[in-house]
Amino acid sequence: ALQTGNIVDSHTVMFAVIGDPIRHSKSPLMMNRAFRETGINGIYTAFHVTSARLGEFIAGVRAMGIRGVNVTIPHKLDIMRHLDHLDASAEAIGAVNTIVNDNGRLTGYNTDGLGYVRSLKEEAEPELSGKRIVLLGAGGAARGILYALSKENPQRITVANRTVERAQALAGDFRRYAEVAAVSNEMLEQVCGEADIVINTTSVGMYPKVDELPVNIEWLRPGAVASDLIYNPLTTRYLHEAKLRGCKIHGGLGMFIYQGAYAFEYWTGTPAPVSAMRESVLESLQ
Ligand code: ATR
Repeated sequence: ALQTGNIVDSHTVMFAVIGDPIRHSKSPLMMNRAFRETGINGIYTAFHVTSARLGEFIAGVRAMGIRGVNVTIPHKLDIMRHLDHLDASAEAIGAVNTIVNDNGRLTGYNTDGLGYVRSLKEEAEPELSGKRIVLLGAGGAARGILYALSKENPQRITVANRTVERAQALAGDFRRYAEVAAVSNEMLEQVCGEADIVINTTSVGMYPKVDELPVNIEWLRPGAVASDLIYNPLTTRYLHEAKLRGCKIHGGLGMFIYQGAYAFEYWTGTPAPVSAMRESVLESLQ
């Protein structure tokens, strides 16, 4: 860790994140820190790629031998048709956030849900087997997390959403992996009262609407885990009030760190330097 900067030479391997917008992304900071920390000769940059240029970007990846790409909004679905292969996670979730380029063969992965679950286990609840879990929200983020949670042998996962039809559709897609059901908003109070873990995957509470709550805090059981995917702010109103109620809280920063850690490991075969990665993001959030 004596190296202070990434030295670029003729052997430097290229990595990138693409999105539209992209200038807010913390991934370059975090990933370049990981390359420095491990002594890997890699450089990771952010490219602003519009939807109209996605195919040209992928041609560039192939032509230039860019080894790895992270994909963010709005490209996680559209990118799939440009790839040669999807792994089981990307296939089941129907979205890709990580591409590995093996000598021109591009494979799509989805590390968001896996990253979330690793963070939840390391930071809040090591044992998910037998747990009763409530998922608030039924969008893209909920989908990745439901996939990863369903592999952890929970007792049941209940999906609740403002638009109940979306919760029903999502639960239906994952019923073959685990005990997954949708719940109406009338029944949510009871289901939350019985839950061990209540996860907010909605955008409710995200900056700048920091005063909004995704669920009535009085419905949570003291001692349960309250988890929020949001990491700006680091502690949402949901987590703040759940803590006052006696819940254990789990914020969204770890999901971001670990989705990147999995991508780093797929690209390099080297264990990700997770604490240095976390430190680099925390420094930039100050
Ligand atoms: P993401 O990919 O981040 O999950 P998304 O697919 O747009 O984004 O999903 C956003 C989620 O937040 C949805 O579950 C959405 O509920 P609807 O399906 O009813 O739209 C939820 N959401 C967003 N704003 C909300 C609000 N003000 N109240 C309740 N739920 C909200």
